[in-house]
Amino acid sequence: MALIELKNLTKTFVTKTQSVNALKDINLSIEKGDIYGIIGMSGAGKSTLVRCINYLERPTSGSVIIDGRDLSTMSQKDLRQLRQQVSMIFQHFNLLQQRDVRGNIAFAMEIACMKKADIDRRIDELLDIVSLTERQHNYPSQLSGGQQQRVAIARALSTNPKIILCDEATSALDPQTTQQILSLLKDINQRMGITIVIITHEMSVVESICSHVAIIDEGHLAESGPVEAIFSQPKTDAAKRLIFRNVQKTDKLIGDRMVRIVFDGQQADEPVIAELISQCHIMVNIQFADTRNVGGKAFGQMILQLPEDHLQQDKAIYFLKEMGLKVEEVSGHAL
Ligand SMILES: Nc1ncnc2c1ncn2[C@@H]1O[C@H](COP(=O)(O)OP(=O)(O)O)[C@@H](O)[C@H]1O
Ligand SMILES: [Mg+2]
Repeated sequence: MALIELKNLTKTFVTKTQSVNALKDINLSIEKGDIYGIIGMSGAGKSTLVRCINYLERPTSGSVIIDGRDLSTMSQKDLRQLRQQVSMIFQHFNLLQQRDVRGNIAFAMEIACMKKADIDRRIDELLDIVSLTERQHNYPSQLSGGQQQRVAIARALSTNPKIILCDEATSALDPQTTQQILSLLKDINQRMGITIVIITHEMSVVESICSHVAIIDEGHLAESGPVEAIFSQPKTDAAKRLIFRNVQKTDKLIGDRMVRIVFDGQQADEPVIAELISQCHIMVNIQFADTRNVGGKAFGQMILQLPEDHLQQDKAIYFLKEMGLKVEEVSGHAL
C-alpha cells in the first residue's frame, strides 16, 4: 500500500461572498521513498492539497490515508502526533525571530516534550546534517535565505519524520541556493529514506529532483506519473502549458536568414546540431535556445542563424525537416 493515498479528495472554501472549489476529486498515491512533485500555476490548489495531507486543512470530502490510517478517524491528539511524522517547510521559512538557530531547531522537540539533554544531542546531529554548526548561535536575521531554509529543514527533521512536505520551499531563493537546498533534500531522501512531497510552480525544481510529478490545474489533477513519462509526453493541455511555458519567450535578435526549430520530444537537441555540422558540413550559429532535456528528448525551441550561402541554407532547412523538426523562417526583428 502507498504511504500517502488521497481518495476523491475535495475542498471547498465557503466565504460570505462566494464558494471556491479549491480541490476537485483528487486521487493520488505516493509511495515510500518517492520525491513527488506537485506542480501547477498560482491558485491551482497546491497549498490546499499539501495542507490536506497533514490535515492542517480538513477536506470537504474524500479521504487522506497515511501509512494505512485514515486521518478522518483520528483524534486531535493523534493528529498532533501524526504531524511530527509529516513535517512541513515553507517558502518564507517561518522561523522564530527571537530564537537563535539552536532554539529554532529545538522548537518541535520541546513541543514533543523531549528531554533537554536529548534535544541538545539531536540538535548537534541536525546541525551537522544541514551544515550549520558554525551558525548555531545566530538569529534568523543574521542568516541568508538558504541558511534560514536549512534551519527549517533541521527543524522539520528533528522529530524523525517519515514525510516532509515542502510548499514552495525554494521559491524565495536564487537559482544557486535553490540547487543547494534541493540537493540537501535529495540527500535526506536517499540517506534517511524520507518521502518528500514538493509543491512548486517551477518546472526546473521538478526536473532536478523529483521521481514523480502530479500536475494540478484549477483544482483538478490533470496528470500524474513518473517525471520522464509526463514531461516527455504530456497529454493534457494543462501539462503542455506548463511544460512549454517558456517557449514563447524570445529576445530581440539581429541577423540575416534565421530559422526557428521547435523540439517537441521527437529528437534530442545536441545530436541534431552535431549532425547538421558533421553530415552536411553546414555551420550554424545558435542565436537563442530555450530547450529542456527530459530523458534524452528535447522540448522547446532554438533559433539558428544559417550560413551566408543560399544552397547551404536550403540544405540546412531540408535536413532539419528530414529530422522531423518543425522549421520556420524568422526575420531578425519579428521573433
Ligand atoms: N482559506 C481560504 N479561504 C478561501 N479561499 C481559499 C482559502 N485558501 C485558498 N483559497 C482559494 O483556493 C484556491 C487555491 O489556493 P491555493 O491552494 O493557495 O493555490 P496554490 O497554492 O496552488 O497557489 C485559490 O482560489 C484560493 O484563493
Ligand atoms: Mg501556494
